Amino acid sequence: MNTSLELGSVFGAVVSQKPSRGICQRGTPMTIQCHVDSQVTTMFWYRQLPGQSMTLIATANQGSEATYEKGFAKDKFPISRPNLTFSTLNVSDMSPEDSGIYFCSAGDTVLGTDQRSEQEP
Ligand SMILES: *[C@@H]1O[C@H](CO)[C@@H](O)[C@H](O)[C@H]1NC(C)=O
Ligand SMILES: *[C@@H]1O[C@H](CO)[C@@H](O)[C@H](O)[C@H]1NC(C)=O
Repeated sequence: MNTSLELGSVFGAVVSQKPSRGICQRGTPMTIQCHVDSQVTTMFWYRQLPGQSMTLIATANQGSEATYEKGFAKDKFPISRPNLTFSTLNVSDMSPEDSGIYFCSAGDTVLGTDQRSEQEP
């Protein structure tokens, strides 16, 4: 897989994320912000743990609650989606098992796109 995870281009939209790298203390929350340079209905949050494939955490549509995949709880991964260009993912109560790569991607359900092909079973 391509490793340029902090900067993705989807439908010509540039997705940027910050921080691109972070070190967290055990038990503290981590916040990742994702900004898209155009308006998108749907944003996806993924993580990839060492040695594992990319896993979808949740799908965040603007104006409604994020939809979580099995194994991911809202309490642990609160997501905000205040507008069409922005989303944040929090990872609460960080533990060593949470170390990995977190990233977001953008899509537009209006276009009928399905980007959820890389989930873990
Ligand atoms: C994420 O964490 C930040 C900082 O702790 C907090 O201000 C924000 O409200 C949290 N967001 C969500 C969606 O819980
Ligand atoms: C979207 O929300 C974020 C966080 O509240 C804010 O910083 C940003 O300016 C907003 N963007 C638009 C286009 O309203």
